[in-house]
Amino acid sequence: MNQPLAGFGLGLRVEHYGDFVETRPAVDWLEVISENYMVPGGKPLHYLDRIRRDYPMVMHGVSLSIGSTDPLDRTYLEALKALADRVQPAWISDHLCWTGVDHQNLHDLLPMPYTEAALRHLCDRIQQVQEALGRQILLENVSSYIGYAQDEIPEWEFVAEVAKRADCLLLLDVNNVYVSSVNHGFDPHRYISAMPRTRVRQIHLAGHENHGSYLIDTHDHPVCDPVWALYDYTLQALGTVPTMIERDAHIPPLDQLLAELDRARAIAARHANVRDAA
Ligand SMILES: [Fe+2]
Repeated sequence: MNQPLAGFGLGLRVEHYGDFVETRPAVDWLEVISENYMVPGGKPLHYLDRIRRDYPMVMHGVSLSIGSTDPLDRTYLEALKALADRVQPAWISDHLCWTGVDHQNLHDLLPMPYTEAALRHLCDRIQQVQEALGRQILLENVSSYIGYAQDEIPEWEFVAEVAKRADCLLLLDVNNVYVSSVNHGFDPHRYISAMPRTRVRQIHLAGHENHGSYLIDTHDHPVCDPVWALYDYTLQALGTVPTMIERDAHIPPLDQLLAELDRARAIAARHANVRDAA
């Protein structure tokens, strides 16, 4: 079962294992990459168990490939369930995408065609995964660089409809919305406003590479000002949502990520004050 969780978190990265064990920084929860710990033993699992004693955790996967036409990988799902039994995460998330076809892994989070056929395909598979794991899952919107000629509805309508029909939850990556809005030329506020507020359970904030006419979602930079502004708008639209900074490359000292998290806290506090005064 999913558990309630609030506040501000970070992605647990190898570079910060020592900090979390020795100094126990003030972070409300940690997100762990599921696949890094779906192993029989060794240092990652040792640190996972040690750090779990001090922090609530959520699990975030990259290999579910929920949108693929390949059969669901039951061996993967069993291993994911076994890890969840060990970690007791508040929830489990993956991405609203496909990562390969015909048993070839393309090692990328590829966007879905936004069609009725894709909706039906996804919803059936999400329900199977939720049954296998015994809980609702969160699916994250991915950033993208291409669209399909077959698209029938905008991405934001598709994401909201998936959540409703499959009765699943959402992980809203505000940076991904911003990256895609620049790459495809849509209004990111329109996307955020279309999100069903009761289903958005977690927010990711991250950095990207700016190539002028397009952005690449690299997760190797600090969160940029337009994404902070969009986060502010998101909380205005959806209310407070558990939020974390997601950094996957060029991992800085932990203090830098804690400072970014403080900025998220400050933005959220402004919205809390507005609500208290109302
Ligand atoms: Fe993300």
